[in-house]
Amino acid sequence: MNIAVIGTGYVGLVTGTCFAELGNKVVCVDSNRKKIDNLKKLIMPIYEPGLEDLVRRNVKEKRLNFSVNIKSAVENSEIIFICVNTPPKENGEADLTFVENVAKEIALCMDSYRLIVDKSTVPVETGKWVEHTVKINLKRKKNVEFDVASSPEFLREGSAIYDFMHPDRIVIGAESRKAKDILIRLYKPLNAPLVVTDIKSAELIKHASNSFLATKISFINAVSRLCEKVGADTTKVAEGMGLDRRIGRSFLDAGIGYGGSCFPKDVSAFIKIAEKNGYDFSLLRETERINAEQIKLFIKKIEDSLWIIKDKLIGVLGLAFKPGTDDLRNAPSIEIINTLILEGAKIRVFDPQAMQKAQEFFGDKVKFCKNAYEAAKGSDCLTIVTEWDEFKEMDLARIKKEMRQPLVIDGRNIFDPEQMRKNGIRYLSIGR
Ligand SMILES: NC(=O)c1ccc[n+]([C@@H]2O[C@H](COP(=O)([O-])OP(=O)(O)OC[C@H]3O[C@@H](n4cnc5c(N)ncnc54)[C@H](O)[C@@H]3O)[C@@H](O)[C@H]2O)c1
Repeated sequence: MNIAVIGTGYVGLVTGTCFAELGNKVVCVDSNRKKIDNLKKLIMPIYEPGLEDLVRRNVKEKRLNFSVNIKSAVENSEIIFICVNTPPKENGEADLTFVENVAKEIALCMDSYRLIVDKSTVPVETGKWVEHTVKINLKRKKNVEFDVASSPEFLREGSAIYDFMHPDRIVIGAESRKAKDILIRLYKPLNAPLVVTDIKSAELIKHASNSFLATKISFINAVSRLCEKVGADTTKVAEGMGLDRRIGRSFLDAGIGYGGSCFPKDVSAFIKIAEKNGYDFSLLRETERINAEQIKLFIKKIEDSLWIIKDKLIGVLGLAFKPGTDDLRNAPSIEIINTLILEGAKIRVFDPQAMQKAQEFFGDKVKFCKNAYEAAKGSDCLTIVTEWDEFKEMDLARIKKEMRQPLVIDGRNIFDPEQMRKNGIRYLSIGR
């Protein structure tokens, strides 16, 4: 099939590339000319395992193309995926300006049937508004038929290609037989369970899923506070809970809370959607409150352990909001580092992938180091902020030797407290 993907970010680039890999002819469009120019030169805008090779192969085999020209993309495609960003407004609602702009542009370029599929995470009833926007912008081409559908994306940064190719389920929200048939055919090679439903339910599935996962994280973080008070071990509690198949082990890792470009914005957008519809989703307000507190508690652990922060040297391991990506959007590292700098600390940082993007956030306010040992050098405290595998494999004796005071404060519980004790390192983690 001929597919246009509008918005070539984390979701659009992965979606377009994977659809090409499945044998479709795909053009990925973006309004950011520099991004498109780089992609044409096979320079990736993001770090995502396996992405570069897949892009390279599909470009070479002429199934994948990049463009800033939405007009020719729409003219030459039967299916158009909207994958633009839906950032939060100040009040927490999703800002749908980019979605509306794209819907307008598609309408202006359409001359025969198109299936317009929203893959961006959007509030329920966005499909209705996209349909309305396309209709009023078709103007004199009133007889041109089209369908709008919703197919939310569930990929995780860091394992995006694998997730796209092996989804737990594919959600198709469509209301005409034709739209359903096209999407079922398109997704068939993935051989995944399909949930075919109406557009509103599909839109709600995405916000409900992300809000549920965020709530699971806040739940275990709340349990971890109790563990600290009574001297229990939250990792063991999570293990014991997680073996219950009704609960499951994933998303039960206590830490410094969720960040990134999705959970914070999707939870607040879902609260707003409920509010607009006359329901106070107080459970989710509590999820947000626990999450915000979690990072403050981590900073307090650092303050309590170092007494005076001013002029202390603090190493920070991990800047990306999670391992496997270079994405710093809403990463806990930003609040932690900015708070410690305000209090007068000197910061040394290292992240295996996010160093380049981190320059934009921190400039010369921190010292960028070439590895974990350099970040530990001369420090009064080493903090673990992102659970990259390479940190789990560090030579602890060497880390201790590099530090001025052997103190590790671990926001991700990557070490065994006993192992740290044996290495002569004072070790604080979360809920243990
Ligand atoms: N990042 C994730 O892990 C993830 C996972 C699932 C769903 N989502 C959702 O998918 C959507 C996209 O997320 P993302 O992380 O890929 O965002 P992103 O910011 O990485 O990419 C969005 C892209 O859209 C482009 N764009 C904006 N307006 C445009 C226009 N009018 N024409 C062409 N291009 C335009 C931007 O230049 C940008 O490159 C969001 O709604 C997000 O919530 C994201």
